[in-house]
Order: sequence, then C-alpha cells, then structure tokens
Amino acid sequence: MRTPIIAGNWKMNNTINYAVDFVKEIKDELEKTHVKVILCCPFTFLERLKDEVDGSKIKLAAQNMHWEDAGAYTGEISAPMLKEHGVEYVIVGHSERRQYFNETDETVNKKVIKALKSQITPIICVGETLEEREEEKTYNIVSKQILKALEGVDRNMVENIVIAYEPIWAIGTGKTASPEEANAVIAFIRDTIKKEYGLGISESIPIQYGGSVNPSNITDIMNQKDIDGALVGGASLKAGDFLQIINF
Ligand code: 13P
Repeated sequence: MRTPIIAGNWKMNNTINYAVDFVKEIKDELEKTHVKVILCCPFTFLERLKDEVDGSKIKLAAQNMHWEDAGAYTGEISAPMLKEHGVEYVIVGHSERRQYFNETDETVNKKVIKALKSQITPIICVGETLEEREEEKTYNIVSKQILKALEGVDRNMVENIVIAYEPIWAIGTGKTASPEEANAVIAFIRDTIKKEYGLGISESIPIQYGGSVNPSNITDIMNQKDIDGALVGGASLKAGDFLQIINF
C-alpha cells in the first residue's frame, strides 16, 4: 500500500522564526498520523529546521536543485549541499520554475537523475496550462513530461520518485480540478508508468494532486482511488490549515 504524502510547498514565503514556530506547533500533533509530512522550504530555513524536525514525522524538501555537484553556477544549489542540511526530497519541475525560470523537460530530467543518484527523492511536477486543457492536450502533455523526466533513469530507481500532478490553471487560483478529473489524469499517469516500467513499479509510486488544495476539499481529493496525497501551496502557510489537511 502506498502511504499518503502531504507536502507543503511554501514557495518564497515565511521567515525562519515563523518556520520554527510552525514546526513547533504541528510536530507534536503528528505522532499518530499515518501520513508522510513534507515541508518544502526556502533554502535558508533548512539548517535551522533540520534540528527542529529531528525525531518528528516531518521531512524536509528543497524547492529546486542543480544537476551538478559543484561548479561555476552562480545562485544555484547542489544535491550534496542540500544533503548537508537534512534534505530528503526535492521538488523538480514545478510549473513556476518552468514558467519563470526556463526549466525545461531536459533540465528536469537532469535534476531527476542527480537527485536519485544522491538519494534525494524527486517530487516531479507535471501539469497542463488552461489553453492546453481546452485543446484537450492534457494527457499528451503529462505523459510527455513524465517520460522525458525519467529518460535514462535506471529502471530500479524509478520506484524512488514521487509525482505531483499540478494543473497550472488550478495553482493559486482557487480553482481545483474536480476530484474525479484529477483522479482520471493521475490514473492515466500511473498507466503511462505501467506501460513503460511494469505494474509493480507503477503501483509503488505515490502520485499527488496539487492546485488550490485546502482544508475543505482535501477529503474528497484523498477519497479518490489513485490520488496518494497533496502538494499544497497557499494553504500550507498557516499551521492550523496545514494540520487540518494532514488530518483529512
Ligand atoms: P496552491 O495550493 O497555492 O494552489 O499551490 C499549489 C502548488 O503550486 C504547490 O506546489
């Protein structure tokens, strides 16, 4: 059985003090949860939060990473640097990185390979724009994004990924895909993995939904057969809301 994963993507928000208080507020509430909880923080919070989450159910993620270990890449951060700060997951290919920072399927692929080789679990984001959806290209887009992200990845490493289906039109807009629509795309993603890598691997990979998830829609989303969790933006910024989502 796949364990549900609820991840909060804080994007470029909060401060270290806020983050520490946030973790203090939620960590004791998580002792009985059956859910994996991940906080995707700005880089500067990681060192401080590493101590704060120690011994709790909370795992740390970065929001981006370079594919080289070191070199002349001003402003970038590498897998070994993230590992020094206790990072176990990294978001790769978030639509905001694709849209504003020239992230492409090719760079996503390089980052996925590096993350897996570094024993950091990549949370690979895929999803279509509104225009693509209206042109009925959703399935083509997400299968292309997934297959390209995994190109050249060792077959026996594929099961170590997490996928997040985040329709771009649902991010930060208050519009969510209906749980049934999200489930259909996620089932299709699982089927795409199955065709390429077999049933066992396709059944082992957690696939999350992201896009305007909040305390009132999480239950319906999590009731869907193929949805294994959520990647939460805005509603992960307040400890109370995030806890309600974790306790869906
Ligand atoms: P919102 O939950 O704010 O729509 O953001 C979703 C997201 O981009 C998570 O990565």
